[in-house]
Amino acid sequence: MNDRALFATKIGVIASTVGSAVGLGNLWRFPYVVGTNGGGAFLLTYLFCILLLGLPLMMSEFMVGRKGRCNASVAFSSLSSDKRWNVIGYLGIAASIIILGYYMVVSGWVVDYLYQSIGNDFVGKTGEEIKGDFVDFQSNPFKPLMWVAAFLVANYIILVRGVTKGIEKASNILMPLLFIILIVFSVYALTMPGAKKGLEFIFKPDFSMITGKVFLAALGQAFFSLSIGIGILITFGSYFKNNSNLLATSFTVAMLDIVVALLAGVIIFPVIFSFGDAPTQGPELIFVTIPSLMQHMGFPHFWSILFFTLVAVAALTSTISLCEVAISFINEKFSLNRKQATRILLSLVAILATLSSLSFSTLSEFKMFDMTFFSFSDYISANILLPLGGLLLSIFIGWRVDKNLLLHEFSLNSKLPKGLFKGIIFVIKYLAPILISLIFLSQLGIFN
Ligand code: TRP
Repeated sequence: MNDRALFATKIGVIASTVGSAVGLGNLWRFPYVVGTNGGGAFLLTYLFCILLLGLPLMMSEFMVGRKGRCNASVAFSSLSSDKRWNVIGYLGIAASIIILGYYMVVSGWVVDYLYQSIGNDFVGKTGEEIKGDFVDFQSNPFKPLMWVAAFLVANYIILVRGVTKGIEKASNILMPLLFIILIVFSVYALTMPGAKKGLEFIFKPDFSMITGKVFLAALGQAFFSLSIGIGILITFGSYFKNNSNLLATSFTVAMLDIVVALLAGVIIFPVIFSFGDAPTQGPELIFVTIPSLMQHMGFPHFWSILFFTLVAVAALTSTISLCEVAISFINEKFSLNRKQATRILLSLVAILATLSSLSFSTLSEFKMFDMTFFSFSDYISANILLPLGGLLLSIFIGWRVDKNLLLHEFSLNSKLPKGLFKGIIFVIKYLAPILISLIFLSQLGIFN
């Protein structure tokens, strides 16, 4: 374990973590949950969750990996002899498999849109027509599944060939490019007639909208977007140098992640209000608005191919990170090789993805707690399993790891005052467990 290569540069660490963090969570999920949870009030709660809870937990995952020099499935047992803490690892694996199940479906939609962009299929269509086409596509049982299968195969090839490093290198160029394109799109979106209304919708909080439900959605989205709660950041941390600055690294990643999500919001809501659409439409939001926006820009063919290629790559770097935790677990626990482990994982994911994809057609009447299989997978993983992982992680770090060791690990190589790091430890030990528990309890209707 000790001979694992360490990241040579700071940029290498940040780029890989950003590759995992920036994905459909920012571009697809963020606008859709902002839209369904009331706009500005949600955004404020989301930023609060990222800065107050997300950052300390991100540092904690990094710290566990850097200290233990191993991945999530071994990390907990190496830090504590009490086997029960392994439950955090198991929860993470369950969460990653469930997330993969519907993430692959949305990635499949992205690949279909890339295909349509190449064929220039959106050209000259009105917003209504684009929306109609999307609904037709979704309610066809076979076509979306074909794209899911294609995306699964791409993941398989990358994971088995061990070319994840190559993909990460490519994304070092492609992610900054995505960033630039988002800036171009947002400048364009801001010139549209609905810009003012759109900006008001996401930036003007109506405090009366902040309820337990909104808080839980914001917490779930914060963890989802930063990739916290399944232990993948433990694996990344295990490649850090001993003296890497955890706060600076976590802060940089979180800022880049927030900026990408905000840009997505600044693009989508002005467009929505310009076309007089509802921000609450849910998972199809970006698939309807982005092509409509591009029809109003010059060179729509060029922009749409470029945009959907980059979104597909962003999705790919995230699914690879989601697969990694489960693969190394299957690999180590059942002493199977990487190829076998990848096959087992992706077969499981294929089953879940089929059920999720069919939730929009054949299985649309099949409900679990009033949700389709797709929505249920999204809800249970992001809003329950990830926060639960975060809750247990904060208890584990806050109460099992020696406080002086924590202080030393967190503040290493930082010139910031020790008081700040004591504050972070206070958050992990007390505030995070209490706040996350309260948010959970509020969902059970205890405070109503
Ligand atoms: N953060 C990614 C996104 O925003 C999704 C993701 C990748 C993830 N790895 C994760 C979410 C681990 C939770 C845990 O799209």
